[in-house]
Amino acid sequence: MDLTILGGGGFRVPLVYGALLGDRGEGRVTRVVLHDIDAGRLSAVTRVLAEQAAGVPDAPEVSATTDLDEALRGADFVFSAIRVGGPRGRVDDERVALARGVLGQETVGAGGIAYGLRTVPVAVDIARRVARLAPDAWVINFTNPAGLVTEAMSRHLGDRVIGICDSPVGLGRRIARVLGVRPGEAWIDYAGLNHLGWVRGLRVAGRDELPRLLDDPVLLGSFEEGRLFGADFLRSLGAIPNEYLHYYYFNREAVRAYQQADKTRGAFLLVQQRHFYEELSRPEASAYATWDRTRAERETTYMAENRETAGAGEREEDDLSGGYEKVALALMRAIARDERRTLILNVRNRGTLSVLDADAVVEVPCLADANGAHPVAVDPLPGHAAGLVCAVKAVERDVLSAAGSGSRATALRAFALHPLVDSVAVARGLLEDYIAVHPGLAYLR
Ligand code: G6P
Ligand code: MN
Repeated sequence: MDLTILGGGGFRVPLVYGALLGDRGEGRVTRVVLHDIDAGRLSAVTRVLAEQAAGVPDAPEVSATTDLDEALRGADFVFSAIRVGGPRGRVDDERVALARGVLGQETVGAGGIAYGLRTVPVAVDIARRVARLAPDAWVINFTNPAGLVTEAMSRHLGDRVIGICDSPVGLGRRIARVLGVRPGEAWIDYAGLNHLGWVRGLRVAGRDELPRLLDDPVLLGSFEEGRLFGADFLRSLGAIPNEYLHYYYFNREAVRAYQQADKTRGAFLLVQQRHFYEELSRPEASAYATWDRTRAERETTYMAENRETAGAGEREEDDLSGGYEKVALALMRAIARDERRTLILNVRNRGTLSVLDADAVVEVPCLADANGAHPVAVDPLPGHAAGLVCAVKAVERDVLSAAGSGSRATALRAFALHPLVDSVAVARGLLEDYIAVHPGLAYLR
């Protein structure tokens, strides 16, 4: 089976390849094609993969190209993990917003809108090419903002594009652990949009175990989201939010912490990643060791400012070893070998969340099999969650429409209507600044 990875020079590709190396089953991936617009990044990552494959019998063969159409032709699966505007673009997304006093983050709030406006046209172009050159391929979208980008691609690929994120699984795993339950035997009732979801229940043998957690301040204080949101608030909510909801529920504190931080997340990664790719351009460098050291540093510092403002401490050991690649591989196996699995994925809603229309991409438990991902019926969202989900989906729809029409007025509406942008005047300033710094937004008129 042939797998094409778009953004193939990206830092997380060795995680995916590592997962492929561990897959010995029938019908596994035997050929990996890496595509990237940057040949230097491709050769750096190719070196890491070569060291990973050393001594592994029948390791998937790896090739690299900067020709997108060539990469897509004949693919059975396409993983799309691109970063439009590169790491520098991420820094600007954050910086512009923070300078105007609102959240600057790659997927949430103003920063997420700017990133979405830049990414959607590129994702749509990819989707159209896949539809033409590899109409039978399944596309697994990792590209952030993942829900929005998956919805953009679904307009051209229908249900053959499925969006993934590791945060719901990580959250479910942490809750299961504090409850002393094996994650595999629990039904995790998670629903919402990407980076905007809630665990409302965790059923074992038909019984909801979540109330046991919500009633116990000690248990609540023993895991990341419990400390991030606080026991009292979680009890009153009756659910455990995805960590990204910290940006909503503690917005002021998060904005202030990000403004005061030495470097934004993007700025930290810009420097870190530049060092990594420079180091790998030296032929004597040990590719895998350098990559792994860099990866560990990246994992331990993830959301550090949020954890610091909340006094939430360090991340847990289990959360430091990746997760994306496991979800992606599980999904790919489910489809390729009809290994039925339940996974939390980004798919078209159909009737799953009653507050949204059928084509809205949502993040919900799905049954995955050879026919793709089928969303499972879930309880309606409680009012507080429905409100946020509808508001953010309306913003996403404005982003999609602005990306399609090039309308600046529609892009302005996206910023102005976002719950984390508190004034139309601020929205105007944001749009102006983003257009000034991002060449990828020149299409807005
Ligand atoms: C989590 C999120 C991803 C995001 C990543 C950011 O895994 O679910 O959507 O890409 O964190 O990590 P970074 O190291 O780039 O800040
Ligand atoms: Mn994610």
